[in-house]
Amino acid sequence: MKLDSYCQTFFKNLPHQLKSFIYRKDLRKLLPLYNSKWNPNMYGQRYQQHFAPLRTKKLKILEIGVGGYDDPLSGGDSLRMWKTYFPNSMIYGIDIVDKKALESDRIKIFQDSQDDENFLEKVVAETGKLDIIIDDGSHQNEHVIKTFQILFPELNDGGIYVVEDTHTSYIPSYDNWSNFCSDSVLPHWARYGGSLDLYDSRTMINFFKRLVDCLSHQEFLHPGYSPNYFDKHIVAIHFYRNQVFIYKGDNTGPGNVVENNVLRPEWLKEIGIKSMEELELEFPTIDDPTRLLSNRYSDSHL
Ligand SMILES: C[S@@+](CC[C@H](N)C(=O)[O-])C[C@H]1O[C@@H](n2cnc3c(N)ncnc32)[C@H](O)[C@@H]1O
Repeated sequence: MKLDSYCQTFFKNLPHQLKSFIYRKDLRKLLPLYNSKWNPNMYGQRYQQHFAPLRTKKLKILEIGVGGYDDPLSGGDSLRMWKTYFPNSMIYGIDIVDKKALESDRIKIFQDSQDDENFLEKVVAETGKLDIIIDDGSHQNEHVIKTFQILFPELNDGGIYVVEDTHTSYIPSYDNWSNFCSDSVLPHWARYGGSLDLYDSRTMINFFKRLVDCLSHQEFLHPGYSPNYFDKHIVAIHFYRNQVFIYKGDNTGPGNVVENNVLRPEWLKEIGIKSMEELELEFPTIDDPTRLLSNRYSDSHL
C-alpha cells in the first residue's frame, strides 16, 4: 500500500479505532459501533451481562455466521468486535462462504455448512475444546438443533452456548412461498423451517424448551431412568426474546425428596411404604433429546 493511501485509511479509521478502544469493556456500546447484530441494543445488553465476568480470560470463542453472505470480502464485524472485547482470547468463525480474507491476528475462519458433522469435527480438532459458542449462522431450525447436538459436548465446563434469532422458530416453511416468487429469489427466511404450531417438536425453541427438563432430571420420579448427556451437563438456561444462553457444568448432584429418580428412603418411610412399587405408578416414556446424534453421547465418546 502506498504511503498516501495508508495515511488516508489510517485517518479514516481513526475515529472508529478510538471509540473501539474507549468502549472496549462494554458490549452495549461495542455492538452498535461494530454495526453487528440486527438489534444491537437488545443483544448488547445481554452479552454484556453474561460475558463481562469472562472478558479478560484466555478463551476460545467460536461464532457460526461471519456475515456478509455471498461476498467473500464482506462481514466479520462481530468477530472483530469479540477480538476487541476479549483481549486475551482466540476468535474462530464459521461460514458457508469462504471468508478467509477476513482473517487477522487472533481471528481464524473455517468454511463449510454448520450442519456438516464431519466439518464441525475437523474444526474442533483444530481449535480444541471451546469456551463460548455463538450460533448466528443459517438460522434454520434443523441446522441449529443439529449444530447444538454436535458442538455442545465440545464446550469446556463453565462454557456458554448462545443461539441468536430463535424467532425463526415461528416462521414456517410454507410450501407455497414459491407461488409468490421464483425459487431462485425465495428469501432466506422462507427456508428457516419454523412452524405456526407453538408445540411443534421440530422447532429450535421447542428443542431448547425440552432441555429445561434436563436441569431437574435428578428429580424425575422415574425408577431406572438413565440420564442423558444434556441432563448431566446443562446447569442453566436463560431464555430471552430471540436469544437463548445455555451454560455447561456438572449437573449430577443429588436431589432433595427424590434421589437417582426414586423417593429417598426417609420419604418412603414417612408415607408408610417400603418401595416405590407399592405406589403402582405408571411411568410415561421420557424422550431422549440427544437421540438425533446418540452415537456422540456414548461413554466411549466423552
Ligand atoms: C446473520 S449473518 C452473520 C452476522 C454476524 N454473526 C454478525 O453478527 O455480524 C449469517 C451468516 O451465516 C452464513 N450462513 C448461512 N448459512 C450457513 C450455513 N449453513 N453454515 C454456515 N454459515 C452459514 C451466511 O453466509 C452469513 O454470512
